[in-house]
Amino acid sequence: MIDVAQMRPRSGMPREQFEPLAAEILSLKRQLNAVILAHNYQVPEIQDVADFVGDSLGLSQQAAATEADVIVFCGVHFMAETAKILNPDKIVVLPDLEAGCSLEASCPAGELAALQATNPNFWTVAYINCSAAVKALCDVIVTSGNAEKIVRAAPPEKDLLFVPDENLGQWVMEQTGRPMTLWKGNCYAHVEFQRDSLLDLKARFPHAKVVVHPESLREVRALGNAVCSTEKMITFCKNDPTRQFIIATESGILHRLQRECPDKEFLCAPVYDALRAPTDHCRCSECRFMKMNTLEKVRDCLLRLSPRIELPAPILERARLPIERMLEISARPT
Ligand code: 13P
Ligand code: SF4
Repeated sequence: MIDVAQMRPRSGMPREQFEPLAAEILSLKRQLNAVILAHNYQVPEIQDVADFVGDSLGLSQQAAATEADVIVFCGVHFMAETAKILNPDKIVVLPDLEAGCSLEASCPAGELAALQATNPNFWTVAYINCSAAVKALCDVIVTSGNAEKIVRAAPPEKDLLFVPDENLGQWVMEQTGRPMTLWKGNCYAHVEFQRDSLLDLKARFPHAKVVVHPESLREVRALGNAVCSTEKMITFCKNDPTRQFIIATESGILHRLQRECPDKEFLCAPVYDALRAPTDHCRCSECRFMKMNTLEKVRDCLLRLSPRIELPAPILERARLPIERMLEISARPT
């Protein structure tokens, strides 16, 4: 049985701890002409000091447009790398360099190059959740917010290879009808959502609408009233007249949802600890990589201007092409 009390997300840091740290961060930010970009999954206190909070697409667009000298990227490594690729002359810091991603780890550049060599007609579409070295091997980048639009714009004569998220790739194929060869990677946090536990929570909240991230499994996506990127989740919940939502993505997003829709109620879709019996313990989903960043680490990386993202020049140059192609196609009128 699901414990509904467990389905509410973590709250922010105590005010007496937050205020002095936030003041220090804002003062360092002004001195350095820095901008703080944060993903929707970051802890509440990081979202609260950020200049912009959004999904991977919004963060790339902000990184492409910024006039700051220093970018503090509060997200995971591939996101900070993307900001560096778009701003090779700026300093890009990531509060914790260990903040990786299971999708990125599933697709080493050497293995991708070997697969690409098997078909000269492959046109490689890479989900942004991959390393700069993988981006440098690809034709176009997509995010969950624009993957459908970009795949629809892909050259019709090419054989599409989609890397590294099998579930997102499957969802894009369902939406577009375009066949693609799929790399077998997944997001370890999103594949934890299970159909049965979601059905159990739905039965207890029959009026709630279910909103699912496309990195989730097909049978979980099938229960969604909306399947979309984290930013589109915010827009969907704001515009939909329903008052109660079950959210199947990383629970950090509930901070923004609650702030932007204060009159609505949000519940995390439940996940279970893999090593325990299903009835023992359920909890909100958290990406351990996204949660490596803390407000103290944000202050420290501004103080030290480290850890920095550095990339070899040939990778920076080659990886920029598919990202710029994505930004261009994304900006086309629909
Ligand atoms: P969004 O671009 O939808 O925010 O997704 C990023 C991500 O890493 C999801 O796990
Ligand atoms: Fe990667 Fe999944 Fe974490 Fe997103 S939630 S950063 S896809 S491991």
